Amino acid sequence: MANVRELLRASELPRLETQMLLQHVLQVPRVWLISHDTDSLQPEKVDQYHALAQQRLAGQPMAYLLGFREFMGHAFAVSPAVLIPRPETELLVETALDFLNESVNRQPRVLDMGTGSGAIATSIALACPRARVVGTDISGEALALAAENAHRLGARVEFLDGSWYHAVCGQPVFDLIVSNPPYISASDPHLQQGDLRFEPAGALTDGADGLDALRTIVHGASAWLKAGGALWMEHGWDQALAVRGFLQQAGFKQVKSLPDLAGIERISGGYL
Ligand SMILES: C[S@@+](CC[C@H](N)C(=O)[O-])C[C@H]1O[C@@H](n2cnc3c(N)ncnc32)[C@H](O)[C@@H]1O
Repeated sequence: MANVRELLRASELPRLETQMLLQHVLQVPRVWLISHDTDSLQPEKVDQYHALAQQRLAGQPMAYLLGFREFMGHAFAVSPAVLIPRPETELLVETALDFLNESVNRQPRVLDMGTGSGAIATSIALACPRARVVGTDISGEALALAAENAHRLGARVEFLDGSWYHAVCGQPVFDLIVSNPPYISASDPHLQQGDLRFEPAGALTDGADGLDALRTIVHGASAWLKAGGALWMEHGWDQALAVRGFLQQAGFKQVKSLPDLAGIERISGGYL
């Protein structure tokens, strides 16, 4: 019967990924793999591990195989219905929290459009419990997972279905709007590479030049923001100039872009 040591030795995957898959299948901590590496494993567990390893070798993202991805220190359930939350998106959350911490409003209203797994909305709600957070998406499957994540993590977030501002019809205006919309151009060859092949196309690309959703969000924002309210969006590495232009044309003040840890202008925003 196979044991951890043999499976690690035979694996074509990086050692860390093999260990993560084994931990997931066996539901054990990393230290168990080391201290029990010669224990015989149940055949059905070995079969489960091999099935996952095959999928990983075929390119499936680790987060979909494990069913979770950490974001802002919280474990978010993910499925192929949602984008896997990215570390660089934490900059958008941190910027939102800076704004909320300075807000004099006792219960600031926050809108996260295109919420996906709910990572942004839930992280904001957990870090700023006085905020009233609304998350929207056009995907019902994404919204169901987002609601599950918020509930499991103990965050109070209202989730609404619909395309961009249509989802918040009838809602009061907001102090802050954030969004990480689909911003990859439909012709970008990266869509056919790596993890992106497995993520929902509607979460990655607007089906056009990559700026369509960003344009729609900026143009609609003034009707949904209070005076002094802010809009911050994540965008592609080469889109900051265009997004700042949209914001300035739409009458936003103090328009600026902020760099991520790699020095890439990753988010842009401004104040009404
Ligand atoms: C890049 S993903 C971001 C997911 C999540 N906010 C995150 O940062 O991990 C974009 C999200 O926008 C949603 N979306 C795409 N088109 C939309 C639309 N017209 N209205 C609302 N949401 C939309 C997708 O379903 C997807 O969940």
